[in-house]
Amino acid sequence: AIKEEGVVIDPAFCKGCGLCYSACPSHAITLLNFEEYQVLKMTETAFKHLSDGKPRLLGLLCYWCAYAAADYMGICRIKAPENFRSIKIRCSGSISMDLIMEILGRDLADGILIAGCPVNNCHDIWGNYIEARRVGILSKVLEDLGYKDKIIKWEYIGVTRGDVVANDLKFMNERLQKIKNKNA
Ligand code: FES
Repeated sequence: AIKEEGVVIDPAFCKGCGLCYSACPSHAITLLNFEEYQVLKMTETAFKHLSDGKPRLLGLLCYWCAYAAADYMGICRIKAPENFRSIKIRCSGSISMDLIMEILGRDLADGILIAGCPVNNCHDIWGNYIEARRVGILSKVLEDLGYKDKIIKWEYIGVTRGDVVANDLKFMNERLQKIKNKNA
């Protein structure tokens, strides 16, 4: 809503998806409990006690489908790399390019899996498509930006597809481990 004091969020209509938060170029919008500095802090804490030499695999998983799929992976006892940590985010579209670059720039993780609901199933309509495009663009320029030893990956994941989460993690883990061994 546009009022005299500027643009304000109308709490009666806000669904808390975070799509406006991630797109606002002047960072004028806040997203309760999911501010970028909070996600950065959670990422930092998540890998604090990880043993050296293992790639740090981070999952930024949408709370409707992708995070539930990771849960399901555990329920089905599908093996996942022990060096994987996940953060439950709002709609995947709440993750800005700035945040991804900040995580990589601060060297808080080696691989980032960003995942949202399946095609035509985003609970916030098009958040998953927006995020898929963001990650697609960033993946193409990652090497040119000097991040040769990092991976970012996008995935559409349904609740029952714990196997997809596990496969993505396995793929990222093996690739990153190879890079680490080569650089050692
Ligand atoms: Fe899951 Fe949008 S709510 S990707």
